Amino acid sequence: MFDKKDHIIPLDRFIDNALYHPSKGYYMKKKSFGKSGDFITSPNISIIFSEMIFIWVISYWKHFYTNKKINIVELGAGNGEMMHQIIISSKKFSNFYKNCEFIIFEKSKKLIQVQKKRLKGLKVKWSKKLNKIANKPTIFLGNEFLDALPVKHYLKINDKWYERYVEKVKGIYRFKNINCDIKKLEKKLNFNVSKNQKFLEISFDGIKLLKELNNFITKNGGSILFIDYAYLNRRMFDTLQGVKNHRKIDILSEVGNADISHLINIPFLKKVAKEQKLEISYKSQREFLLNLGILQRADILASKKSFLEKANIYYRINRLIDKKQMGDLFKVIHFYKKNNKFKLGFK
Ligand SMILES: C[S@@+](CC[C@H](N)C(=O)[O-])C[C@H]1O[C@@H](n2cnc3c(N)ncnc32)[C@H](O)[C@@H]1O
Repeated sequence: MFDKKDHIIPLDRFIDNALYHPSKGYYMKKKSFGKSGDFITSPNISIIFSEMIFIWVISYWKHFYTNKKINIVELGAGNGEMMHQIIISSKKFSNFYKNCEFIIFEKSKKLIQVQKKRLKGLKVKWSKKLNKIANKPTIFLGNEFLDALPVKHYLKINDKWYERYVEKVKGIYRFKNINCDIKKLEKKLNFNVSKNQKFLEISFDGIKLLKELNNFITKNGGSILFIDYAYLNRRMFDTLQGVKNHRKIDILSEVGNADISHLINIPFLKKVAKEQKLEISYKSQREFLLNLGILQRADILASKKSFLEKANIYYRINRLIDKKQMGDLFKVIHFYKKNNKFKLGFK
């Protein structure tokens, strides 16, 4: 996983390699999604999840851009399930559909192939660069996208700050902490992060990407909607986890054979948003989906089904909204520009 000459690399570069190394990276070779994969995401649990996202998107368009052209861009589309359902639902609304350009922004070549297969025959494009997307109002969507980006770790030990690196010794990966200048880091971020913290988990890739998205919507109009694993504590802690066969594992074991993700820290994200002059609202996945009418939609879908099919629909929805399952752990996060009064799902 290491370049030959590098025996030690920063944690975020290690994660990036473990997931996207051209031949050995997890997302470059494995079938990760679904029951037979390592984890399952909301669009793969129930199509109703993607239908709710679609309702949010079309309502946004109606509110601001009726009869105007718009881009719907999905960031990190996995196996393409969410985009598939969004396009299928859009087709039922011809005015919206004809004004929409559907675009996927995806890093993994392997997953692009999977997506192309799933979305065959549908009106969708892939874009490798955000700055190549046509200048028009744009809704950026990402499910489990932010929480899949690489992070850096900083640790305070005996009043000194260290950055976490990964080294490989005799074939075994292990962490190594190296002195760092936390003031320099705060200067780069342009806000204070270390006060009252003993541990920091930061995705600079995420911050950079958010900046690009922000620039885009500042210029062209639109919003950013993310659905991610997230937590609300002010105190940050180590949330990094490997996942294989639906089980949590140490990120240094099974390198390249397991997914790696983390939890988004909402107080930190608020600081990032403020620094970038972006507004932010969030709700638990449960509240957001209930606000959008997921139960009413389930009732409609279930009404003409057999008892077993009905049970299956409600069982899946329960997974998405139950407080002990995905309902509370996942947060829907809306980034928008000042004076944007669109609050659907977030009231
Ligand atoms: C955990 S998966 C979620 C997939 C999908 N959204 C879902 O819910 O099933 C993360 C996705 O983001 C993609 N990804 C990660 N980092 C990316 C980046 N920097 N640019 C574009 N795509 C990225 C991955 O390849 C993968 O498709």
